[in-house]
Amino acid sequence: MKTIEPCTIVILGAGGDLARRKLIPALFRLELFNRLPESVSILGCGRKPMSDEQWAAEVRGMLEAKHAPEVLDAAFARFGARLHYHANPPDDAESYQRLQRRLDGEPQFPPNMVFYMSVRPAEFPFIIDKLGNVGLLQEKGGWRRVVIEKPFGYDLLSAQTLQQSLYHHLNESQIYRIDHYLGKGTVQNVMVFRFGNVLLEPIWNRHYIDHVQITHSENLGVEGRAGYFEGAGALRDMLQSHLMQLLAIVAMEPPVSMSAEHLRDEKVKVLKAIRPITQSSVNAHAFRGQYGSGVVNGVTVPSYLEEKGVAADSVTETYAAMKLFIDNWRWAGVPFYLRTGKRMAENISAICIRFRSPPQDLLKHASHGSQHPNWIMLGIQPNDCLKMEMQVKVPGLDVRTRTISLDATYHQKGEENFDAYEGLLLDVMLGDHSLFLRIDEVEAAWRVVDPVIKVWSMERDFINTYPAGSWGPRGTYRLFDREDQFWRHSLSLEGATLEAY
Ligand SMILES: NC(=O)c1ccc[n+]([C@@H]2O[C@H](COP(=O)([O-])OP(=O)(O)OC[C@H]3O[C@@H](n4cnc5c(N)ncnc54)[C@H](OP(=O)(O)O)[C@@H]3O)[C@@H](O)[C@H]2O)c1
Repeated sequence: MKTIEPCTIVILGAGGDLARRKLIPALFRLELFNRLPESVSILGCGRKPMSDEQWAAEVRGMLEAKHAPEVLDAAFARFGARLHYHANPPDDAESYQRLQRRLDGEPQFPPNMVFYMSVRPAEFPFIIDKLGNVGLLQEKGGWRRVVIEKPFGYDLLSAQTLQQSLYHHLNESQIYRIDHYLGKGTVQNVMVFRFGNVLLEPIWNRHYIDHVQITHSENLGVEGRAGYFEGAGALRDMLQSHLMQLLAIVAMEPPVSMSAEHLRDEKVKVLKAIRPITQSSVNAHAFRGQYGSGVVNGVTVPSYLEEKGVAADSVTETYAAMKLFIDNWRWAGVPFYLRTGKRMAENISAICIRFRSPPQDLLKHASHGSQHPNWIMLGIQPNDCLKMEMQVKVPGLDVRTRTISLDATYHQKGEENFDAYEGLLLDVMLGDHSLFLRIDEVEAAWRVVDPVIKVWSMERDFINTYPAGSWGPRGTYRLFDREDQFWRHSLSLEGATLEAY
């Protein structure tokens, strides 16, 4: 196992939602599991003035609800000693110079530094510029790494503009573009599943796979984040980033090695092979919707337009689905269906792979209804699981068939669950880029969705709606290539047939 070098983690935006809910708790869990060496310091940086002691008390408050008092007491003695705070008020022209003097001058801050941009995307260029101008991004006495949160731009052009502003002060090797989805164990398991098992490779292609579905659906609505969501929409928020990454991992060629560059080279090749969608074909390849009022888990919820902060005439999509083709040797002609939505019937993230039917239906007389093709399904959320649906003979004197599900929940009793941010923070400290996005990946993903964004931003008169608590607009079925293809909502056997919907 690689060891972590002494380093300083600077969290810019330490008082914000992400830092409170994810980053600080993740660092604390690393402390609990003894994964933080003694020589790691954490400097919170926010706009609110506060002393180190006040900050430590605030951090303790963030952790209280998550840990039993005895666990917190034992580990906070160590964790609290790592905590420092720097105030960055907007009207203080000297604050970045003071930050530099503190970080470069005080012995408790090791010269290897991670700057975590837990601030709104509009602040990224400004803060990087400030840090660069005071010399904090120069790798003289130690390495300097910058973590950039998503979204990375809001279209191809803005991503490229943001990138140019980063390159004034940083090399690509210093930049860690985070997509926390990639830090989920199950997503990494897709690679283990594909490359650790020889039996899949011969069938992982257009000859055997009918189509691939990638779904991320949520019960939740915009949850007070309408300000952000109104400008983003489901396509940018989830599909361009997380779902496109899942597609790349499912479809990429085996890399030369699992090193960061080899992995990312293969992902980029797949993303570049996605057939471009012309503006005139957007409606055949993409579908959007917005939730109306409805019932979710027995509770009546308002429509998107009734949410606080949403414009009365908003056509921002809360549901987005796309059909993509990958024009390469392995995948020619195989549709990849991607969808994401808020206020849907269930919380589920899954990759469902449907295989072709056998070339001859020799068991027609023995099966009920239409032929049941094989499915392989990888559940990512809420439960990580692996399922495979196959045909077997029903016990008895006659030859009758039925579908069974081989169900492997690979989490064993007593095995600890880790949040994606825990692993990703460790990776940044270790200098491992494997699960972070390279700029060419980001650009390739924007190229795929840009035409859809353009057309949707022009067509502002109408958007399909769906009742909250449903599986999205019915019209989305027009994306399917054939009548026997359908969204796989559930990973259980009941979801295995078109008749179920
Ligand atoms: N929250 C999530 O679950 C989530 C998930 C995925 C990605 N992200 C990304 O993570 C980033 C942070 O999101 P968030 O939800 O935490 O936003 P947030 O709640 O608005 O927090 C941002 C924080 O940054 C502070 N800030 C602004 N400028 C600063 C500066 N120059 N120096 C230090 N602090 C500064 C803000 O201070 P004030 O309070 O004074 O304005 C605020 O506390 C965003 O890029 C977002 O897209 C968030």
